[in-house]
Amino acid sequence: KSAAPDAHYRPAYHFTPPAGWMNDPNGMVYFEGEYHLFYQHFPDGNTWGPMHWGHAVSSDLVTWEHLPIALAPDEKGYIFSGSAVVDRGNTSGFGQGGRPPLVAMFTYHDMAAEKAGKQDFQSQAIAYSNDRGRTWTKYAGNPVIPNQGVRDFRDPKVFWDAAHRQWTMVLAAQDRVQFFSSPDLKNWTYRSDFGASAPNHAGVWECPELFPLKISESGETAWVLLVSINPGGANGGSGTFYFVGDWDGSTFRPRKEAIPTPQDTVQWVDYGRDNYAGVTFSDVPATDGRRIFMGWMSNWDYANEVPTTTWRSAMTLPRELTLHDTDFGTRLHQQPARELLKLRGQRIPLEMPRIGDGTTTIDLSQLPAAGVFELDLTIDLVDSDAEELYLTLSDATGEQFYRVGYSRRSGVDNAFFTDRRQAGQTDFRPSFAPGLTVAPRWSNEGNLRIHAFFDRTSAEVFFDGGDPVLTDIFFPTEPFTQLTLESYGSAGEGMQEGWSLVEGSIWA
Ligand code: FRU
Repeated sequence: KSAAPDAHYRPAYHFTPPAGWMNDPNGMVYFEGEYHLFYQHFPDGNTWGPMHWGHAVSSDLVTWEHLPIALAPDEKGYIFSGSAVVDRGNTSGFGQGGRPPLVAMFTYHDMAAEKAGKQDFQSQAIAYSNDRGRTWTKYAGNPVIPNQGVRDFRDPKVFWDAAHRQWTMVLAAQDRVQFFSSPDLKNWTYRSDFGASAPNHAGVWECPELFPLKISESGETAWVLLVSINPGGANGGSGTFYFVGDWDGSTFRPRKEAIPTPQDTVQWVDYGRDNYAGVTFSDVPATDGRRIFMGWMSNWDYANEVPTTTWRSAMTLPRELTLHDTDFGTRLHQQPARELLKLRGQRIPLEMPRIGDGTTTIDLSQLPAAGVFELDLTIDLVDSDAEELYLTLSDATGEQFYRVGYSRRSGVDNAFFTDRRQAGQTDFRPSFAPGLTVAPRWSNEGNLRIHAFFDRTSAEVFFDGGDPVLTDIFFPTEPFTQLTLESYGSAGEGMQEGWSLVEGSIWA
């Protein structure tokens, strides 16, 4: 449709803003049959600027309808990240005609105060809507939480804390999170803070969220605290991690977690470079029961420089989060939301080369949309000398490629990796593709699974049961039209035993 020079970079099924800049997902809430996605947005340019909340709705998390901007900056400041809830009991009194209002809570960022050298330029405010999120009124009593002298004081995420009959809110305060509670979304009481002495302080903490989730194995409920950190991500720049613990209505206590290896002191939501500031949808009906997460598919290391001109950034796919007891502690697993099955059209079966048989190349030039497909591969590693597996997506000449791999070569103990160093444009920023992106494989046994969603300029790879996950963006100047599968072993050519493919499919 668009004649924009970078139209070929726009993903086919990921959410992107119609035009202009986008960062964090905001105010994600389900209400009366619609999933609402608000987002950090600068409509008048393609770099970060005066922040608005852009808005879109979807009935299925796959197809989004763009709506007018929901919140625009005013004399109190830019509209930074935040959340939205359905106020079912009309505790706020904002409701009309017996219907529950939507209430959004966001951070005001007062640019003038910051420029004047003040420290108290971020405060928390609310707005409400009585027309299914189409129009919003900012509360006259804003800010509802003035700044208390903390330079970084932002990104409120609210939920109805049913067990304690209160609204609970968590926000980021530099090197920690702070918890507040409220009876009515207007009057807030500080309860506690968490994190100053917990691991991971290479950067500032942002966009936290606290939510309960049942551990699948035991049925017991634990509380997950998501925190985004920038810089200091798993593979550099921005990243999101989590704690598993308990919440008593005023204090969060992390459980003692088994730490997988001395290198892994932090539980990462995603090992890729491109999943930041993600949180989950509020008010998903209990009959559905899912915890659905979306993140911003970029990284502050290079977000302002990625080579698109009329728009910038996409969101990750919606993902269902589950919690599991594993040998490495209680861990989050992620799966693409089941609605994504809708995208499946034709199926192309995959075959795996045996070692010594060279490579298998699959021609993807006839797909309905170049570089747009889902891949699911399950491999039996048992009884094999094979050491390395490559899945390479490339242009027709093979000059530009993006690679997903698994390695257990000596020195690489059981790891997944991705490689975008030659995946097209990389020179807009040296920190974009300095090396491989690596994630540990937790188990050393059982089948290995690579379940990946490719969408022209991104890959979201769910390894094994959805842990680890690795999300990358890339910018090929020629379409990726072939896929190559290779596996190698130390015994080289003479080796007979490769890894066997249990199942392999592509859907386009
Ligand atoms: C995270 C973040 C938030 C802030 C917003 C500003 O990416 O820095 O902490 O509210 O972006 O756009």
